[in-house]
Amino acid sequence: MANWLVTGGAGYIGAHVVAALSEQGEQAVVVDDLSTGERSRANDCVFVEGSILDEDVVRRALRDNDVQGVIHIAAKKQVGESVADPQKYYEQNVIGTLRLLSATVAENVPSFVFSSSAATYGMPEVEVVTEDMAGHPMSPYGTSKLVGEWSARDFAVATGLCVVSLRYFNVAGAARPELGDPGVFNLIPLAFQAIGAGERPRIFGADYPTRDGTCVRDYVHVADIADAHVAALKDLAAGGAEPGSFRAYNVGRGEGASVREVLDMVSGVTGKTFEPDVVGRRPGDPARYVANVDSIRNDLGWSARFDLREMVESAWAGWQHRQNNR
Ligand SMILES: NC(=O)c1ccc[n+]([C@@H]2O[C@H](COP(=O)([O-])OP(=O)(O)OC[C@H]3O[C@@H](n4cnc5c(N)ncnc54)[C@H](O)[C@@H]3O)[C@@H](O)[C@H]2O)c1
Repeated sequence: MANWLVTGGAGYIGAHVVAALSEQGEQAVVVDDLSTGERSRANDCVFVEGSILDEDVVRRALRDNDVQGVIHIAAKKQVGESVADPQKYYEQNVIGTLRLLSATVAENVPSFVFSSSAATYGMPEVEVVTEDMAGHPMSPYGTSKLVGEWSARDFAVATGLCVVSLRYFNVAGAARPELGDPGVFNLIPLAFQAIGAGERPRIFGADYPTRDGTCVRDYVHVADIADAHVAALKDLAAGGAEPGSFRAYNVGRGEGASVREVLDMVSGVTGKTFEPDVVGRRPGDPARYVANVDSIRNDLGWSARFDLREMVESAWAGWQHRQNNR
């Protein structure tokens, strides 16, 4: 059994990583400032309430718990908010990551896993994205994630830290109802919210060159995302990485679902019949955006297990759980 520092362990994805570590007999030490997270989500862990910007708090958490690796999930993640308030995103996501890297190296912790995002790519010209594509993020949020990667890569070169960056695509679902996504920023929770309010879920653009005219995205179950972290940690703990190495992996299913297909699934799972409200395209939305997942499968032996139905069913169970416990 090893101890892993998980920043943001009280959030949507972080709580799933904490649960996955616990299932594998590993110990999570969570540092979370509860700015968007909830204390009740992070069970089976040592919990430290504090910010990653506070290097003393982080160093103490690393030292006191004999931590062997850091899983850096804490961040602010709303694209629109990042456009309106870039200072918050550079401070929390860029400076926060720098301080965490500095604390990690100062305490001689050898491994670092970083929550990155498909948002680092921006709007690539291709439909299937490979990790070697240059990043051209479209928002301060995406930029903050890309700079986070660069910072971690440069710390690796300078100090021998081993870094794995996981670029998540469209995360959905819940491993258990109480771990459901509390945010309403993505297509599936937005559809649940619209249905609950007696409104029609919206489709932004139905004239794209895709099989049904709506945008295609790569949806991946949050439990699969959590397992990808466990695969990365096992590889790092087994000495699978050269000191000073930096590796970035796409984390998706490698296949896409269209907005209309997702909404059809939402209708089927919830039993609510609706005709989506088709409105104009949103600027900057690529038609099709799917991960190539060969690298993570070949290097870490990870591939997604859950399909779209399982994502929507578990997300719906999570949504209902939140509605019933408000
Ligand atoms: N949810 C997605 O669809 C998605 C997609 C791609 C990448 N990501 C990345 O995954 C990570 C987690 O996302 P999430 O959906 O779980 O978000 P979330 O908001 O649910 O969780 C973030 C957690 O980090 C904590 N936190 C934020 N700032 C902190 C700070 N300065 N110090 C300590 N704790 C802090 C919050 O309290 C919260 O518990 C983020 O890094 C995000 O960029 C998410």
